[in-house]
Amino acid sequence: ETGRKLFLGPVDFLKGVVAMSGLPPADRLEVCFAGRSNVGKSSLINALTGRKGLARASNTPGRTQEINYFTVGDERYIVDLPGYGYANAPVAVVEKWQNLLKQYLSGRQTLRRVFVLIDARHGAKKVDEEIMTLLDRSAVTFQVVMTKVDKIGQKQLNESLEATREALSRHPAAFPEIVLTSSDKGDGIATLRAIISTID
Ligand code: GTP
Ligand code: MG
Repeated sequence: ETGRKLFLGPVDFLKGVVAMSGLPPADRLEVCFAGRSNVGKSSLINALTGRKGLARASNTPGRTQEINYFTVGDERYIVDLPGYGYANAPVAVVEKWQNLLKQYLSGRQTLRRVFVLIDARHGAKKVDEEIMTLLDRSAVTFQVVMTKVDKIGQKQLNESLEATREALSRHPAAFPEIVLTSSDKGDGIATLRAIISTID
């Protein structure tokens, strides 16, 4: 499958990384998608790029097991991360990902924004809070993206939004705008594309 031009240029898979030493050269800006296992990170990347099979998505938590780099034109990277929190994988393996994830999120010079994905049905959990605190300490700007909004009604969505706004008010590295998305129905996808294209 060849790259199709969608927002900033053609998107292509570059590599899967399993250790900090495997990261590509920090020669362009990047944004990444973080969140609990199964929240919809890979699906969102597919929706954003319009390429269904680009990032592997599945109903089994723990599908993405490497830091997956995608090139967007020759100006930036988008990065799909393994989920944090519960995953269908041995404890030792999960611990290894978590360590890599923390090193990556706190130590990548060219990382401009972390999109922290939160399931609209569940709101921010303790592990989300921990990641947001890590990002505060590392002074890495993050922005919350609510996923799977197609699965809930307006009232529940408003409650979830309210609680999330409240949580974000305690995080200095948080970007205030919350993006509401559905990778299935397409809500918020164009908005998120536009946001990504303005990051420099
Ligand atoms: P890991 O790689 O395991 O951390 O998961 P992930 O965050 O990449 O989630 P993934 O994209 O693999 O999606 C998990 C499941 O949620 C899949 O069954 C998707 O089809 C489903 N899903 C993702 N986004 C949406 C959405 O917007 N709406 C609905 N209804 N389902 C979604
Ligand atoms: Mg994934």
